[in-house]
Amino acid sequence: MELNRQPPPTRRFSTGERENAIDRTVPVLPPALEFDEHNYFDHNAPPEYLDGMTKQVQKFLDFHKHNRVVLVTSGGTTVPLENQTVRFIDNFSAGTRGATSAEYFLEQGYAVLFLHRQFSLLPYSRHYSHSTHCFLDYMDERDGSVVVDPKYQEEMLSVLRKYQAARTKNLLLLLPFTTINQYLHTLRAISVIMQPLESRALFYLAAAVSDFFIPPSRIPEHKIQSKGGGNKLVMDLDPVPKFLNRLVEKWAPSAMIISFKLETDPTILIFKAEQALERYSHQLVIGNLLQTRKTEVVFVGPGQNHDWLRLSDEQQADGIEIECMIIPAVVKLHSQWINRR
Ligand code: PMT
Repeated sequence: MELNRQPPPTRRFSTGERENAIDRTVPVLPPALEFDEHNYFDHNAPPEYLDGMTKQVQKFLDFHKHNRVVLVTSGGTTVPLENQTVRFIDNFSAGTRGATSAEYFLEQGYAVLFLHRQFSLLPYSRHYSHSTHCFLDYMDERDGSVVVDPKYQEEMLSVLRKYQAARTKNLLLLLPFTTINQYLHTLRAISVIMQPLESRALFYLAAAVSDFFIPPSRIPEHKIQSKGGGNKLVMDLDPVPKFLNRLVEKWAPSAMIISFKLETDPTILIFKAEQALERYSHQLVIGNLLQTRKTEVVFVGPGQNHDWLRLSDEQQADGIEIECMIIPAVVKLHSQWINRR
């Protein structure tokens, strides 16, 4: 037998460079100031649809001017790598937290502005989309007509009634975004329109917002070519300004503001939530871990106050959702906020 004596092909994949793959020397970004706001919004054009969307929001708020209104943000933002976008960076968020929470807010009588990632989960329809069953699995054929399979009738009727009630009473407005830039422009525009609601406005920021993006000055116009740039694609991203500070101080100074903090390392969750609260001076951070986010969360409030909300094993087996504990607790805090003002 003859041995293959040819030299090995040139190595085409990097190995053993995990430490250097991402530059972690970037310092912690301070909260955004007025200058950062102008700098960002002057150089990143608003989405074309923004004027139309703000008119819709204004009409909705005119209708609900005496009610409590919550802005729920939901799903992940994308970071385009090209102006005519073929590729983008995304994250895991399916919008479960936001869509589920919106339903419980509606149950508590709130009008809901649902600022969500397009095609992520929506209140009510979430029960039958993105699930392990195709929606056709809920259907059956009877006498040549399509009907709901009897075993799903009761549950679907209850969801349908709630959905129709929300629609008939004009309690839910769906506002989609895709990119980080669309999200930021829309958040700012809506929060300013919500100002007349004063303390009756609640911000429930459950979206998983990108931390880095490519500014317009550096983004390539066309699809990045795989040939011609060497073997690697090296990206140079700028940090997204931390606008939570602007929201609290300028865009919605009388509203109650709740942000979420997601971590994967349990040992730093509380610390990071406290740090966010201290840095942005808002009212509450709800901490959650990627692994357990559907069964437990921690409320981190001023004065090193931590309250864990957890589903018991029995509740989990019964399909109870953690949002049915989160939202009543949030509503109680919002009532206190309103009464103190
Ligand atoms: O959608 P699911 O699959 O159900 O997952 C839900 C969730 C885990 C995404 C959600 O519960 C959650 O934790 N969301 C926040 C994720 C996070 O840690 O975000 P952050 O640290 O990047 O931002 C903190 C807060 O500021 C968030 O509320 C965010 O919406 C807001 N933010 C962040 C950056 C920025 N430029 N503007 C913002 O408004």
